[in-house]
Amino acid sequence: MKDLDPTYIQAPEHRRDSNSIPNQPEEIRVIDLSRLDDPEDVQNVISEIGDACEKWGFFQVINHGVPLDARQRVEKTVKTFFDLPREEKIKVKRDEVNQVGYHDGEHTAKVKDWKEVFDMYFKNPVVIPSSTDPEDEGIRLVYNKWPQFPSGLREACEEYARHAEKLAFKLLELISLSLGLPKDRFRDYFKDQMSFFRINRYPPCPRPDLALGLGHHKDPDVLGLLAQDEVGGLQVRRRSDGVWFPIRPVPNALVINLGNCMELWTNDKYWSAEHRVVVNTTRERYSIPFFLLPSHDVEVKPLEELVSPKNPPRYKGYKWGKFYASRNRSNFQNQDIEILQVDDLKVVT
Ligand code: OGA
Ligand code: NI
Repeated sequence: MKDLDPTYIQAPEHRRDSNSIPNQPEEIRVIDLSRLDDPEDVQNVISEIGDACEKWGFFQVINHGVPLDARQRVEKTVKTFFDLPREEKIKVKRDEVNQVGYHDGEHTAKVKDWKEVFDMYFKNPVVIPSSTDPEDEGIRLVYNKWPQFPSGLREACEEYARHAEKLAFKLLELISLSLGLPKDRFRDYFKDQMSFFRINRYPPCPRPDLALGLGHHKDPDVLGLLAQDEVGGLQVRRRSDGVWFPIRPVPNALVINLGNCMELWTNDKYWSAEHRVVVNTTRERYSIPFFLLPSHDVEVKPLEELVSPKNPPRYKGYKWGKFYASRNRSNFQNQDIEILQVDDLKVVT
């Protein structure tokens, strides 16, 4: 039995084998977006998306318009970067002030994840609150950090992120329509979007029975678009009964999932699902998520159109930038701070 640093050991109830995964996995829907070219099929696509957002908070899309060669350029250049010695990689290390660049010690729910990441904001610079203090209205700018080598990394990432952002807004329109709202209902929330782009590398792990590549969590964002390679490992918890299901790798597909903002805006009609990543002993795995995030000053609260006396708001609102900053601080600092969760904002009735 090989040893594993104790900081990686998950509590028994969170380990890979402690939650039954059915032998016959229920398929998470794979939606072909080229169907949008057929006017007679558009409404079906919108209802399928709505249904997936309600039941799972996850679906996959194919023929989504993000060019495969743009994705392959990112995959190739980031692999070169991650294969560099650690001394090189930490030259662009994340720090507490500027949370972009390389990082290999992330905590989710107080346990260390078996992975390394490279992060960059979509807008460069991005505007974020200067502190987590709710009274402090100060803002600051954060600039991305780019390694000197490999030289094509920045260009490849920026190009891919532009395509991913375009698709994110397209999906947001379809989601708005599925809620019976105008397609541009959310658009104003993104003037200074804090969206970011991440590359996750999950190395082979000696004890995949004890550690996770990424511990169970919900994403705080609006939506995520994730490209995963063929290795597999991403799992999602079904809304109806909390059972974990694998998200099967589909060539050239993107995995779409809703984050906390959507759950709040829709007053729980749509779901942001818990998910996690299991690792294995032999193969490294890459995933490339683009996270769509609102501007820091957006007040996230249930939309007026979606609440009524019969369906009163279930959450108090929050300033997006503050919520995000306080979550990030707890991610970064140490294992003792409780991470702010969206359920902490539930209105107690
Ligand atoms: C994330 C995430 C899943 C994966 O980065 O928030 O859930 O498959 N990633 O890497
Ligand atoms: Ni996630």
